[in-house]
Amino acid sequence: MAIQQWFSTPVYYDYASNYDAVQEEISSAYAKMTLEKHPTWGGQNHSITDHMFNTNILDEFDLQNFKEELVRQVKQYTGSFSDTDYEVSVEDCWLTQTAPKEHTVVHNHGNTHISGVYYFQTNGKDGSIYFLNSNTSLASTYFIAPDDYVEYPPTKGLFILFPGWLYHGVRSNDTDENRISISFNVNITKKP
Ligand SMILES: [Fe+2]
Repeated sequence: MAIQQWFSTPVYYDYASNYDAVQEEISSAYAKMTLEKHPTWGGQNHSITDHMFNTNILDEFDLQNFKEELVRQVKQYTGSFSDTDYEVSVEDCWLTQTAPKEHTVVHNHGNTHISGVYYFQTNGKDGSIYFLNSNTSLASTYFIAPDDYVEYPPTKGLFILFPGWLYHGVRSNDTDENRISISFNVNITKKP
């Protein structure tokens, strides 16, 4: 007999290989940033650098080490599926600060090819990201007993990448410290 698992959803994680350089770069950029709340996301939602998503902090703060590492991580992710060489374009990049008692509601990143997060500052208990099971049909196939979600605790220096359409949220920060992370949307095109 044989059983094959088809149509899985690939969620990737790995630690920054240039952690010290990335942390130093983000630290000096953070000191110059102003943060704001999205006007329609509710008061308990997290703060971000630009609620209109018109700016890209990679360019605005010249985060070269972070960008280099992000592209490397994306290529590792795509490289696990094929040897295709892609041009990686970081369409959006913003910083997120989640204060005590704040959270992020469930959402997805639309048509973006690859979305993700990097944890700059976290105590490991200030809110796990969770991904909803994208195969909702499985819920009625009770003998498979699927999980409704999977959850990753935040860890300093960790990248998590996932398809942009995958619904996710972040648990409430029930500690008394801020969590700071960087989120991004990436599109890829095949090199000619
Ligand atoms: Fe998100």
